[in-house]
Amino acid sequence: MEMGGKILIVDDDPLVREVLQSIISSIDGLRPDLARDGSEGLEKARNNLYEIIFTDLKMPGLNGMDFLREVKKSSPDTSIVVITGFPTIETAVKAMKEGADDFLTKPFNFDSVTTLVNRITNVRGMLRSRDDSEESIRRLNSDLFSKVQKINLLKSISTELDYLYNNKELYEKIVEMASKLMLSREVSFGIVENGFLKIKKAEGVREQEIPIGGSIFEQVLNTRNFYLALPGEINPHTGGILESPFLSIPFAINNEVFGILNVSDKVDGTRYSEDEICLGLTFSKKVALRIENNALYEVFYNNLVSALKSLVNSIEARDSYTKQHSERVTAYALQIAETMGLDDNEKNAINFGGYLHDIGKIGVRDTVLLKPGRLTDDEMREIRLHPVIGHNIIEPLRFFPNEKELIRYHHERFDGSGYPDGIAGSKIPLLVRILSVADTYDAMTSTRPYRAAKSHQDAVNELLRCSNSQFDGEVVKAFLQTRAGMGGGLEL
Ligand SMILES: [Fe+2]
Repeated sequence: MEMGGKILIVDDDPLVREVLQSIISSIDGLRPDLARDGSEGLEKARNNLYEIIFTDLKMPGLNGMDFLREVKKSSPDTSIVVITGFPTIETAVKAMKEGADDFLTKPFNFDSVTTLVNRITNVRGMLRSRDDSEESIRRLNSDLFSKVQKINLLKSISTELDYLYNNKELYEKIVEMASKLMLSREVSFGIVENGFLKIKKAEGVREQEIPIGGSIFEQVLNTRNFYLALPGEINPHTGGILESPFLSIPFAINNEVFGILNVSDKVDGTRYSEDEICLGLTFSKKVALRIENNALYEVFYNNLVSALKSLVNSIEARDSYTKQHSERVTAYALQIAETMGLDDNEKNAINFGGYLHDIGKIGVRDTVLLKPGRLTDDEMREIRLHPVIGHNIIEPLRFFPNEKELIRYHHERFDGSGYPDGIAGSKIPLLVRILSVADTYDAMTSTRPYRAAKSHQDAVNELLRCSNSQFDGEVVKAFLQTRAGMGGGLEL
């Protein structure tokens, strides 16, 4: 066998094999072999000495991870490139542990493949000319591997971070990722506040508030740079003496350190290498950028919320009933949501949507909205437009999907006889069915210029009478278990 610049492509997708083969063939002197799955790949790998093997991870029969493990046993010096979609940290780390040297992310193009192949063959060539020993090839492989690996890890980190808009989830993710990236058992992330590092999330250590003065955190804050504490120094997590290296990495926005990530107790017992520190710093920059974006998003969102609130205020200025009504409806609906075990997101939607639900009344004329007597048919038609008007006001905003539904459907009835869309049953979102019970109960128990208020018991009887016709019976049941539903009223 000779090292003839041979390459093997293992993938069950014929299109991937073909595209990759045609790109690699165009690189001078390289003759790629093909295999349809891990078993065929292994067969070929045992009979040839390949420089590089490209392999898919998900294949029928012998899958990529098993294939990787087997090939590494028989041909430890072959560079293995894993072909993947977006690599998650889990798959990247797993493939890395099994001996993958590099990743080729789909969809790939001519440039990404040739750059990758050239990089691997150049470094291998360089190494061979200097020293042909197996050991040095292995060392080179692992250097190359760790560099490229890190680039790919950071790429997948960015992708995962993109979906986190709330800081609590972000803190959890920071700690989870840092422990994997830095292979550390003790990880904490804290926010700098009033002279303390307030640990928001930790793994292997306690969540606590640590005074910054006199600790290595002070050093990190002042220099805005990482600090690597060595065994023998004070462990800021425990106040004891460090038994293994402890790395603190600053998180900054506009050059201002707002948070610190700490990692220590490496799984493999080694020190943090230059490469790893560099990786940690890059990681902190990416996350800080995400946090900055989240802060901007929050400002924007809050502006939007206050703009909508001022719209609601302008209706309330015309019609004081609507204001108190909206507040009470929201409170009743929240009690029902609590009884039915809804989550925080849903309760937030009720909180804001309940407040907004009659926002469309802004488009109803005063003479109709404030009319003390019974409404004519025309006037009734006009007032019945308010769910659609409200929906139109909030529709262009890309936030508030649940609130939009609360506004548009709050006059729909469980049996389909409501308006504006006449939808029924489970087609009406649960939050709306809840708001509808709260809305009607409050309307019945409020005094209006044209009629007296019903007693609590009469209103409850009416809700029961209309269970499963106007209202979702389950929601009525839940309401009757709330404090207000049992006649205990509200604390507003
Ligand atoms: Fe309404």
